[in-house]
Amino acid sequence: MTDATYIHGTASTEQARLAALNRLTNGPFIEFLRIEPGMQVLEVGSGLGILAAEVAAAAPGVQVTGLERSPNQIAAATSHPCVTYVEGDAQQLPFPEAQFDLVYCRYLLEHVADPNRAVAEMHRVTRPGGRVAVMENDISLVRIDPPCPGFQAIWAVFAQYQWQLKGDAFIGRRLFRLLHSAGLTQIELSFQPELHWSGSPNFRLWIENLRGNLGSARAGLVEAGVCKAEQLARADDELRQLAERADASATFAWNRAMAVK
Ligand SMILES: C[S@@+](CC[C@H](N)C(=O)[O-])C[C@H]1O[C@@H](n2cnc3c(N)ncnc32)[C@H](O)[C@@H]1O
Repeated sequence: MTDATYIHGTASTEQARLAALNRLTNGPFIEFLRIEPGMQVLEVGSGLGILAAEVAAAAPGVQVTGLERSPNQIAAATSHPCVTYVEGDAQQLPFPEAQFDLVYCRYLLEHVADPNRAVAEMHRVTRPGGRVAVMENDISLVRIDPPCPGFQAIWAVFAQYQWQLKGDAFIGRRLFRLLHSAGLTQIELSFQPELHWSGSPNFRLWIENLRGNLGSARAGLVEAGVCKAEQLARADDELRQLAERADASATFAWNRAMAVK
């Protein structure tokens, strides 16, 4: 299998963006997971482990395993006495079947060359009656006002570039089909909303996240020839100015799915 390249890399600025995104999204996501005492939990694509550590702290006796492909991410990951990190590939999980009560991934499937196989692996390692949960991106749902045409143009080629890397920037819309083809049952879809406007607590943070998305992919986008450095600079400038306005807003919805084995 040819693997996908991780579009964002692991530079320190990208690590800071991911940490800020965790601060914004972890609360509602952990509520969605419905963690129970004593659960054996697997996070696939655990990144910096910020989420894994919060999941471990969500109820007594919870043990979390964080499966992560990048040794750089594991080296930088948050330590927690109830979290263990294992290096490996989501498409070939190094665990026996039926080992976990809850298996989840977040912001992962968009980066994986064979997401069907990754979800099939998540299903395999979940115990019968256990749950599989997913939250992913569909970048077509990003809305900003007033319009930033330079940003919108780059956002469209960003998706093309992710295709070239064998990822899928629209994978959020495919969650029901992915979980269904893995044989999961009782699949329920939901949204986790991002609703931000000038003066609201996380408006600037959300715009910074959008800027960071482009920033961490900048070199790759230019090298791949999908856009020019000047176009990226213009898009970034538009977002920077948007964050300063008194009348701007930005909305998005993360796609979530929960299912039972
Ligand atoms: C955007 S981060 C998300 C981290 C974490 N799940 C969170 O919600 O903060 C995606 C992570 O998936 C990892 N990753 C990408 N492809 C992978 C694969 N095939 N197997 C395991 N991890 C992978 C990347 O190295 C990166 O750390």
